[in-house]
Amino acid sequence: MPLDPTPVPDELRGLRVALLVSGGIAAYKVVDLASALTQAGCQVRVAMTSSAMRFVGPATFMGVTGHAALTGLWTADGSPEPHVSLGDWAQLILVAPATANVIGRIASGRSDDIVTATLLAARCPVVVAPAMNDAMWSKPAVQENLGTLRHRGVTVVEPESGRLASGHSGTGRLAGAQAIFAAMVHAVRTRYDYAGRRIVVTAGGTREPIDPVRFISNYSSGKMGFALAAAAADRGARVTLVTAASHPIHHGIEEQHVDTAEEMLAELRTQLRGADVLLMAAAVGDFRPARTAKHKIRREETPSLTLQLEPIPDLVATLAGDEALAGVFRVGFAAEDSDLDAKGVEKLKRKGLHAIVANDISRRDIGFGSEYNAGVLLFADGARHELEKATKREMADRILDLLLPKLQR
Ligand code: C5P
Repeated sequence: MPLDPTPVPDELRGLRVALLVSGGIAAYKVVDLASALTQAGCQVRVAMTSSAMRFVGPATFMGVTGHAALTGLWTADGSPEPHVSLGDWAQLILVAPATANVIGRIASGRSDDIVTATLLAARCPVVVAPAMNDAMWSKPAVQENLGTLRHRGVTVVEPESGRLASGHSGTGRLAGAQAIFAAMVHAVRTRYDYAGRRIVVTAGGTREPIDPVRFISNYSSGKMGFALAAAAADRGARVTLVTAASHPIHHGIEEQHVDTAEEMLAELRTQLRGADVLLMAAAVGDFRPARTAKHKIRREETPSLTLQLEPIPDLVATLAGDEALAGVFRVGFAAEDSDLDAKGVEKLKRKGLHAIVANDISRRDIGFGSEYNAGVLLFADGARHELEKATKREMADRILDLLLPKLQR
């Protein structure tokens, strides 16, 4: 194969890159990547799985990077914990080629070799470039493991279609250098791009009590709000999550649990002072019981029950009218089953928002409860951006990408 002529983007120059190589035939192409990165002024350190060494020798990587490749957790390299040293040192990790096996092991949090242990010990962004046979690529287990990595903020560079080493044609060929470099640039660029910003995110469906054991709520899972909070925190923002839903929380996020819309409004009034952005992903109820029974309503004593509901004021519109919060950039979320654009624009105006994400809940493959989402991001200045189907975490990052240029300061 000829040397890849793809130029290395300037933004990668001088970067400390840990290149983690697993055992696929595409490992030979990764030698060229290591060479190109080194020649462009990156510092490249390689760690390899034992299977990777069946395809390319560590001496090859040493030859192109000028440094010995790490080949195991127990091989003497002068460091008692080579995975921790490499993880601490790296500003970016590239796993290439990433086999189905290593993807599965990363997704399940294994750390029994130098590659997986380095990933667990690292704090920097991670880009994974899979390469495998097309049948392996299409297996639900592989796709679910990749979904898990994406959900955790790992960038996956989709493999290409074409002739594979097995002789088949299909998807599974390691992505080209240009796509891999572009993913690396994006991962580096977004690393701390929200540093110094304070972001308040809301999540989940609010719960309005009927009595001490029953409530009115909706199908919102809160996953989109949790994904936004995680993405913003990973990008350096100070994040408060005001949530009516419960999920494992990403480290570094301040969580405030609320149940009712009224509690959410009170918490937002406190949290939004000094904040830059409000991401209003919560599905706030529109009606609540006019009265809450003090004691459990008993079926034996209640032959029929009529609930009287009263409207819940629009929280985000209420906040838009609060002068003390005028500097907060307010982003709403609207779940729609038709006319996304028209309904989105109408809500944007009515609620005094700066932007709105309208997503299509008529599609069964995205939205409520799903790990995926899709929709359109509309700004008050008329800008419109399609949000292609992606994991909620990927969509959260895309929203943050598009929001940043709109924020003053
Ligand atoms: O009108 P709709 O409920 O579709 O609008 C959704 C947006 O408005 C979301 O951002 C949601 O958090 C917000 N909202 C609100 N207060 C309500 C209802 C919705 O702030 N009572």
